[in-house]
Amino acid sequence: MNDARAARHVAPEARLLALDWVRVVLIPHARERKANPESEVLARADALGREDRALFQELTIGLMREWGFLNEVLLRFAKRPPREKLRNLVLQSAYSLLFLDRIPAYAVFSEAKRLASLLGLSEHEAGFAHGVLKQVERNREAILKERADAMAKLKDGARPSSAFEWAVLNSSGELLRMLNWCAPGETEADAQSRAVRALAAMKEPLPLVGYVLPGMKPSREYARLGSTIAPDALILDAAAIREDPAVRVQGEVSQWVCLEAAKWIAGRARESSAPVRVLEMASGKGGKLLGTLAALARLSFSAPESRTFGAPEVQPFTAPEARPDSRGVFSRLEWWAADSSDTQLRFFERDAFPRVRELWPDARVRVLRTDFSDAARLPVEFSTPFDLVWLDAPCTGFGTLAKHPQIAWTRGLHARREAESMAALQHGLVEKSAGFLASGGTFLYSVCTLTEPETSGVTHFANQKLRGEPVWERVLWPGDSSTPASEGFYAALLQKPA
Ligand SMILES: C[S@@+](CC[C@H](N)C(=O)[O-])C[C@H]1O[C@@H](n2cnc3c(N)ncnc32)[C@H](O)[C@@H]1O
Repeated sequence: MNDARAARHVAPEARLLALDWVRVVLIPHARERKANPESEVLARADALGREDRALFQELTIGLMREWGFLNEVLLRFAKRPPREKLRNLVLQSAYSLLFLDRIPAYAVFSEAKRLASLLGLSEHEAGFAHGVLKQVERNREAILKERADAMAKLKDGARPSSAFEWAVLNSSGELLRMLNWCAPGETEADAQSRAVRALAAMKEPLPLVGYVLPGMKPSREYARLGSTIAPDALILDAAAIREDPAVRVQGEVSQWVCLEAAKWIAGRARESSAPVRVLEMASGKGGKLLGTLAALARLSFSAPESRTFGAPEVQPFTAPEARPDSRGVFSRLEWWAADSSDTQLRFFERDAFPRVRELWPDARVRVLRTDFSDAARLPVEFSTPFDLVWLDAPCTGFGTLAKHPQIAWTRGLHARREAESMAALQHGLVEKSAGFLASGGTFLYSVCTLTEPETSGVTHFANQKLRGEPVWERVLWPGDSSTPASEGFYAALLQKPA
């Protein structure tokens, strides 16, 4: 790599911001000082240019993903753990040396020296950083091989048996215990192996996945993901989607649950000519609403003569054309989106809502700020019962470790306490939902986590409240044969007796 190219890849601002981000995410006293410290750093990162922003993302997500492993490597070459500021600089530089092939080692060393001075580290500390990094550079191949061997074992489902293997898994015994639960008919050994495989699978970065909005023509080629759960999932790249209004980013598991919701709505619309009333109790930014309407549209779309996109070596993606009869369902749909967060609803109204208006003008969508924990202030609009109540609940997010690896080191260290407190909140929301549901109506519960209290524990509670039975219940485990590279997710559909 020539010097000019190398220089472009080293952006001190991105590196310093990434160090700030690690502090506010992981260090409790840095978090306590501000109301929303992560957002503040991310807002500053938004001002970075394109390449610097990519470097910032790589350094933050990558460093968290390899946090346990890098700490273990550092301790091999240091007599005792350095203070936090110095440690974080060494870990970030070691991450670059081990994982960022495009940055030459000499650039990593000179950046480390410059950052040490900007951070006010002493000469002695800068020397310490240099010494450790030299060892990492010298032993790079052996370290990476040891890590790869441990990963292969973990991906096979073998429980970690050394501090190094735990570090490579980037997880704690507490988090593993919370994911290690048996469904009826399963052995404990199977459950444990599946939990380890899930944590190992979530160490891999996920491909960027999305779908094409129905009736819109993508501006370039995309490949299909070959997903067993979301047949329309496409592999995207970040640069392309910014330029392509026809494309939405939505994870494979989200696409799956939206398709399930769409199938339910289509079925209900076929059975009766009455309006289909849906209450979405935690609509957030509106991703599930848009995803569900898109899936519903695709269910009534055909593709025989439409244009085909896709390079010959990938499975081609065919942009669907609308059938004339696809409008009937939308004109009978009444969707109430409610969420307690003003911030989330601002995104909803700025982003998802205009899209829904433009693509499905016949659907009646209403957005209402509602805190369902506040029984005294529930809107009168909700007194007419709903056919479908969907609770995409707030949760611990342990199924999203591939995207948010820091959760393993924040919530994950207290996984039981976190899961139990989220489950209490979820029970409260389920209790409210029962009051909104029509007799014979359906309750859809979903969470992006995999702990028992937040998944089947809540379904069990909901069954009691609704006096019903689950129609289906599904846990999507990363690393399983049907969902090898997906996020972790849980959903259940329950029927209230007529
Ligand atoms: C998992 S997110 C929902 C994501 C959303 N369904 C989507 O697809 O974009 C959980 C949401 O629950 C909302 N929430 C948390 N507590 C709530 C409450 N008491 N009442 C209503 N919404 C709540 C949060 O603001 C957050 O947007």
